[in-house]
Amino acid sequence: MLSLTLTGLKLENPLMLAAGIMGTTGGSLKRIAECGAGAVVTKSIGLEPKSGHSNPSMVEVDCGFLNAMGLPNPSYKNFQDEIDTARKGSVPVIASIFGGFADEFSEIAKALDADAFELNVSCPHAHGYGTDIGTDPELVEDITHAVKKAISAPVWVKLTPNVTDIKSTGLAAQRGGADAVVAINTVRGMAIDIETGCPILGNRFGGLSGRAIKPVAIKCVFDLYEVLDIPVIGVGGISDWRDAVEFIMAGARAVQIGSAVGENINIFQDISPCMEAFMAEKQWTLDDIYGMAHEV
Ligand code: SIN
Repeated sequence: MLSLTLTGLKLENPLMLAAGIMGTTGGSLKRIAECGAGAVVTKSIGLEPKSGHSNPSMVEVDCGFLNAMGLPNPSYKNFQDEIDTARKGSVPVIASIFGGFADEFSEIAKALDADAFELNVSCPHAHGYGTDIGTDPELVEDITHAVKKAISAPVWVKLTPNVTDIKSTGLAAQRGGADAVVAINTVRGMAIDIETGCPILGNRFGGLSGRAIKPVAIKCVFDLYEVLDIPVIGVGGISDWRDAVEFIMAGARAVQIGSAVGENINIFQDISPCMEAFMAEKQWTLDDIYGMAHEV
């Protein structure tokens, strides 16, 4: 009842692991696959090994988490084995990749063998990467186009909400040939320790995830659905089955879960039967609820 085909990939359910959580090793990705995710996305991988920002790089706030990891990763040159191990979990494995230029993105995508690629043009706190390029529609189009030209696997583009109008970057990704967009990455934010007056994160500011950003993400998905012909994958603050249904009603073909996995690794297998029971009671299919909020 929950299975679907997304950009040519067969998924048992529309619930995926989002980039950044449990995605650095093949073992942890495989574990999440075995916990019922329909697909898993790796941690963002770049050209060279990167240690990331200084600690503290993550802090819990009232309404979610602020992180400024700074894209730590072992480089694509040391990552294929992890993808291969993750694939033993029998669900599609999507490689999240980042670069500063179109050539860097295509070099990495060409070198890795994954079921799809998610282009991170939306990390809000890594100088020269993420939002530094992903807020410029021309660059988003060029990067997407370069990766599409370089590989045959599906290309998803993860968008930032830190723009005036996410529709323009979504449309740019679509013009570049993206097979799907993913919305949203974290919302730029900051926390200050009032005892010392110091910013808490090593990088001073970071990206907010968790429950607080769900309404922001829902609105972005809703807006993108109205203008795009390619699927939108929703992410941002999903912590139970109702949230997942809400995203699909806003126009998401599938959803990703990040912060909530930290609290409950079994969240995928908890959500699926509840969604199924809800839809059975309403006599709705996934197709029925897809974009339902646009019909009123
Ligand atoms: C990070 O590794 O810095 C987080 C990635 C992101 O926000 O896209």
